[in-house]
Amino acid sequence: MNQPGRLTGRLVALGITGSIAAFKAVDLLRLFRAEGADVVVLMTPSATRFVAPLTLAALSRRPVDADVLDLLPDGRIGHVITADAADVVVVAPATAHWLGAMAHGLAADVVTATCLATSAPVVVGPAMDGEMYAHPATQANVRILREEFGYRIVEPETGGLASGQVGVGRLAALERIVDAAIDAIGVRPIRKPDPADRPPRLPDGDDAARDADDLVGRHVVVTAGGTAEPIDPVRYIGNRSTGAMGIAVCEAARDRGARVTLIVGTASVALPQGMAIVRVETATQMRDALLEQLASGFDALIMSAAVADFRPAAPSVLKLPRTPAGLSLELVANPDILAEIGRRVRGIGEDGAPVPPALTPAPVLVGFAAETGSIVRAAAKLATKRVDFVVANDVAETGSGFGTPTNRVTILAADGTEDALPILPKREVAERILDRVGAALAGRDASE
Ligand SMILES: Cc1cc2nc3c(=O)[nH]c(=O)nc-3n(C[C@H](O)[C@H](O)[C@H](O)COP(=O)(O)O)c2cc1C
Repeated sequence: MNQPGRLTGRLVALGITGSIAAFKAVDLLRLFRAEGADVVVLMTPSATRFVAPLTLAALSRRPVDADVLDLLPDGRIGHVITADAADVVVVAPATAHWLGAMAHGLAADVVTATCLATSAPVVVGPAMDGEMYAHPATQANVRILREEFGYRIVEPETGGLASGQVGVGRLAALERIVDAAIDAIGVRPIRKPDPADRPPRLPDGDDAARDADDLVGRHVVVTAGGTAEPIDPVRYIGNRSTGAMGIAVCEAARDRGARVTLIVGTASVALPQGMAIVRVETATQMRDALLEQLASGFDALIMSAAVADFRPAAPSVLKLPRTPAGLSLELVANPDILAEIGRRVRGIGEDGAPVPPALTPAPVLVGFAAETGSIVRAAAKLATKRVDFVVANDVAETGSGFGTPTNRVTILAADGTEDALPILPKREVAERILDRVGAALAGRDASE
């Protein structure tokens, strides 16, 4: 079975204060969403100078509460509603100033006011300069929060700080904060499951609400980039894939709320933030990495990597010398990863006989087909590889394929439909692919 998000149905109130680490709260929010949580963001006025409330509103799909004196549109008091509904309040990063205000109950900002008004567990991730954290005043405040209020303190880590110094004060790894929140909630019942009792969402049609959140709680695995098949220790057979298309898919899936695992080979674009990344080189390594993911489960797999069909039969252990006679390489076929995954997911053995499927419910599978000239072969892949969708693109066309910021693709579906898209930025292509994946997952759930 695929793992459901550990916070499905929960409301997490994420309090952000004015630390240099405030930008990390964006990734923290994504991690909470990837665990299935509904998130409402609270900010101190200082925090809004470090990270834009608009970003956090778009990702949480709720207005950010940054003014303790603001009422909700219907006249309710925002921090009281949040305090009553939240299953956990997480303050990360927490400044020295905020720790002091909280320890003494000074409710001048919405984060402190919410903590004072709630009976939900509170998790605090301090982040500051090492000397500030070591100061007796800060330590006394942390002690009050931990021992007198019962708050969980996720201790900061040792490392390079914004001041240029190395010390204890760097915000804890975000996964530790998420785990602490899950642990703090434990087996308590969901406090306010009815959305009417929770802080309001952004109205439909609001610019910031346009980002879909149809992949919240889903685990999406994406392969990207090319593969490098060694000839000898310094040379390899590669291809022109930059990884840009697959990385656009990863970022779009992440922004739609998915927990994303990227398996990436050779790539010449920056790798994305906010997801697990597995680096591989060869087609065989990519296959092994995918089989590992198959063992732990996922909801959708998008295989955009350009995997070498062949590899040198006997890579040399030593660098091959230059010889006037030239060099002939014997190539052998690489495993057909797409076909193998398709077979395993559908519960078909190597010999074609039925075997128990690797995952229940079956994940949505998307293959990519880079062709030159025609997409006829791509259509055949739907059946031969047993995938739900094939994204076909003519890599010989200007503005499409490797090394371009745009792509023209046709999305072919197992139900026989074809969606021929115009030339679009790769991110937009990624969104269109994920529209199909999200709809297929919703259909799968509805028919269970
Ligand atoms: C660039 C910059 C980075 C800062 N980073 C931190 C920090 O990491 N931790 C901290 O406790 N204070 C930090 N401060 C100081 C706080 O922003 C300041 O104490 C502020 O009043 C905190 O307000 P708040 O706790 O209401 O959010 C920083 C200030 C600046 C200008």
